[in-house]
Amino acid sequence: MLKSMKNFNQLLEHCRTYHAFQRDSVDKKELFEALEASLKAPNHKFTFPWKYILISGETKKKVAELAVEVKSKGEQLPPAKIEAIKDKFLNPKLVAFCQEKSDSEFTSKEDYATLSCSVQLFALSLAEKGIGYKWSTAKITRDERFYDVLDLDPNKYEVIGLIMAGRPCAVPKPRQRPTLDEVLTLRN
Ligand SMILES: Cc1cc2nc3c(=O)[nH]c(=O)nc-3n(C[C@H](O)[C@H](O)[C@H](O)COP(=O)(O)O)c2cc1C
Repeated sequence: MLKSMKNFNQLLEHCRTYHAFQRDSVDKKELFEALEASLKAPNHKFTFPWKYILISGETKKKVAELAVEVKSKGEQLPPAKIEAIKDKFLNPKLVAFCQEKSDSEFTSKEDYATLSCSVQLFALSLAEKGIGYKWSTAKITRDERFYDVLDLDPNKYEVIGLIMAGRPCAVPKPRQRPTLDEVLTLRN
């Protein structure tokens, strides 16, 4: 599986989106180090738009139950499917990255940029330790019941991602990316 990495390019190669994680495979110190790193993101006007919610214990179980409800759309799912959905949420560490809302559209955009940088710093810090992550904006993250479970006021905060962290079960296939030539214009 993933090894600790020091070389930046190697780190980037491994800083991928992983979809399945080993249960309880990250300790609190590793997670908190990565969260500390995430706060080094650039932030215009020092608006400090971050709010993180570390989801564990009973709250995590409620999130897993809600994920089943959201996925099933009222239909009865087979028990194996229910367990698979729950495992997706119960196995990794779960952190809701939330953005403080602003009345200004421009500030909101800049604050989202800050949160996005934070997610990437969080992911890179984890990758250095051989830990994988996933940024999820699955339906549950936009469901008002999710805000209730987290006891989060949707008028004040937006969940911009449910971030999962864990030692991955499998490495996804290489990703398709544009080449630099495809995106770069040289204008002298
Ligand atoms: C804003 C944002 C939201 C995302 N939401 C999801 C998601 O809900 N489910 C998912 O499987 N991946 C999600 N991803 C991960 C992307 O699908 C992933 O980055 C992309 O497939 C490229 O794979 P890589 O990260 O391994 O390079 C999200 C990524 C971003 C930036």
